[in-house]
Amino acid sequence: MAILVTGGAGYIGSHMVKELLDREEDVIVLDNFQQGHEAAVLGGKLFVGDIRDTSILNKIFENHAIEAVIHFAASALVGESMVNPSKYYSNNLYGTLCLLDAMHQYGVKKIVFSSTAATYGEPVKVPIQETDATIPTNAYGETKLAVEKMLRWYDTAHDIKYIALRYFNASGAHESGLIGEDHEPETHLIPIVLQVALGQRSKIDIYGDDYPTKDGTCIRDYLHVSDLVDAHILALEKLRTGGESKIYNLGNGKGYSVKEIIETARIVTGHQIPAEIKERRNGDPAVLIASSDKIKSELNWTPIRTKLEQIIESAWKWHLNHPMGYRKE
Ligand SMILES: NC(=O)c1ccc[n+]([C@@H]2O[C@H](COP(=O)([O-])OP(=O)(O)OC[C@H]3O[C@@H](n4cnc5c(N)ncnc54)[C@H](O)[C@@H]3O)[C@@H](O)[C@H]2O)c1
Repeated sequence: MAILVTGGAGYIGSHMVKELLDREEDVIVLDNFQQGHEAAVLGGKLFVGDIRDTSILNKIFENHAIEAVIHFAASALVGESMVNPSKYYSNNLYGTLCLLDAMHQYGVKKIVFSSTAATYGEPVKVPIQETDATIPTNAYGETKLAVEKMLRWYDTAHDIKYIALRYFNASGAHESGLIGEDHEPETHLIPIVLQVALGQRSKIDIYGDDYPTKDGTCIRDYLHVSDLVDAHILALEKLRTGGESKIYNLGNGKGYSVKEIIETARIVTGHQIPAEIKERRNGDPAVLIASSDKIKSELNWTPIRTKLEQIIESAWKWHLNHPMGYRKE
């Protein structure tokens, strides 16, 4: 039987597909390329289309024995979600509704879902635990939280079991150097810093250096994409062996400040990476760090690529090999 990976041509999805292929799983990818890249899909059967298109969903589910779905496809730009919430409700919530209805129609009972730290909003304490309040401060986080709630009712009504993983900051790239992060626009700190090192940007802006943190800059939890993928494998295995529906945080448990990222990138790349302090941005909490104790104890997950140098070195390898990302030079 096959695993359907939605959004499998994207950053995290392409790493998931590679890992599943390495494990000799049968993989089907559905991606509409709104952010994904054909070259990022290293194998399996690729369908180019939208999760909201029931005809393509029917085609996939009718012609392939799908055992489980790993659902990455979404719109994921926080800023965009604040000016165009419709796009987020349509793609993230309605899109997942279409997918779940197709799963129900074809009797597929397992799904691993990409949720996010943005479901929490402003943290009440750090490290953040799954039991903490979920009060999203942006439309993106709100749509992901709405999907988590929808999943609960599809489990109750149709026995579709889910594991929702609330990722903090995915980072780094595959050890092979073959796949990595290539978003347009790029909003994530590490690739932007590395684009400065490549000479593609003149400097990196630091939004605020007067936060109540050790060096005044914001602290975030960066998790290597391959550790994140490992957690999906464990989640899939849990569902395969009759596991109940669950929600887990997924983070490194270690926070790194913006200045630490830039400093480490300077060492790794040997480039001076000019930086400029700017005003704080609205709605940027000082510190976001996950407690991943629950998934560690229940699924035996252990992140192994936790050093910042390791994360940045892997991302740098990808950027050096592919300075234009997946586009041909
Ligand atoms: N990158 C992170 O740090 C992070 C953090 C928290 C949560 N997440 C979640 O993880 C998932 C993957 O993130 P990513 O960074 O790999 O994003 P990405 O944009 O690189 O990947 C998403 C993929 O889904 C595809 N897609 C989007 N809408 C689609 C649709 N309607 N039909 C078919 N394909 C569609 C895109 O083309 C893209 O290839 C997303 O759901 C995101 O919300 C990511």
